[in-house]
Amino acid sequence: MRPVLGIESSCDETAAAVLDGDGRILADSVASQEAAHAPYGGVVPEIAARAHLALLPDLVRGVMVRAGVGFGDLGGVAASAGPGLIGGLIVGSQVAKGIALAHRLPYVAVNHLEAHALTARLPGLVAGGAPFPYLLLLVSGGHCQCVAVEGVGRHVRLGSTMDDAAGEAFDKVAKLLGLGWPGGPALEALAARGDAVRFAFPRPMLGRDGCDFSFSGLKTAVALEVARHGAGALPEALAADIAASFQRAVADVLADRAAHAMAMMRARAPAAHLLVVAGGVAANGAVRAALGAAAGRAGFTLVAPPVRLCTDNAVMVAWAGIERLRLGLTDGLDFAPRPRWPLERHSRT
Ligand code: KG4
Ligand code: ZN
Repeated sequence: MRPVLGIESSCDETAAAVLDGDGRILADSVASQEAAHAPYGGVVPEIAARAHLALLPDLVRGVMVRAGVGFGDLGGVAASAGPGLIGGLIVGSQVAKGIALAHRLPYVAVNHLEAHALTARLPGLVAGGAPFPYLLLLVSGGHCQCVAVEGVGRHVRLGSTMDDAAGEAFDKVAKLLGLGWPGGPALEALAARGDAVRFAFPRPMLGRDGCDFSFSGLKTAVALEVARHGAGALPEALAADIAASFQRAVADVLADRAAHAMAMMRARAPAAHLLVVAGGVAANGAVRAALGAAAGRAGFTLVAPPVRLCTDNAVMVAWAGIERLRLGLTDGLDFAPRPRWPLERHSRT
């Protein structure tokens, strides 16, 4: 297959990548909009959409030049078409459709969650490529779910969060501790200096049947602890202990839920043996360690892609495009981006 261009614009990362037909990365670029949103403590959809519009044309031109590929040489164009913020999805989809139309190329509307799910099959991550079926734990700022990935367009959600996503919990607790946004990386850095067993924060859902998640009770417990110390900034050592204790609680919960999900996966597909993590929270060392241990106990192998492929990127979008193009799955230029697009509704046709 000829090279494929991928475009990602579903949240606050503007990204473009070109992969060759085998999935090797020819060029990859991610422009984070963090600085534009940081003053507001979260992603502002209108700012994100305008930034995608401003950044994407140069980003696309840049990856094409670095890949040494002309638009006419492409085998297809893939863009995240949902779920996500509709303004950004429209920008990325329109850029992709424009290129596809002008150069008579196949267009693929990629489900962003499927792109995270299929990342494990990129060449070089798992020897021979991760075979279906495998278990995906997607833990990002917007999503927290366990998915049985059974094939391209064949996904079964085994459990998901009943309230906050794991990354959202990190961001909210980071805010309580006076850290900037996004909070996950800053909280992890602070936690490295803290005592993870000083505070016995709750572990919501621990041991419960199934693999649903809940983080709001944990977040409230941290808020109450912070409030107990009065107004004003917390002493750094105390903040570090709270951060470390919170991070340990999240890691324990994720490991427990993943253990249940692995048992569910085994019951569905006895040969399944891979636990794949994706999403920004998968960058967290404590979370990775806890998941690795849980996988080992269950006879699974943890597949944790490099952090730049766990967080939002266009390599995964181009790769999902390649997987779909190989099966002859393309979309019409009338495909409307979908702010909500559950994985289960991603059919093969
Ligand atoms: O996948 P992602 O880049 O974007 C989406 O949400 O789609 O994930 C971002 C989330 C944020 O909530 C961020 O705080 C969290 O991932 N995150 C982390 C770490 N790095 C990013 N959480 C914990 N520890 C980290 N090192
Ligand atoms: Zn994502």
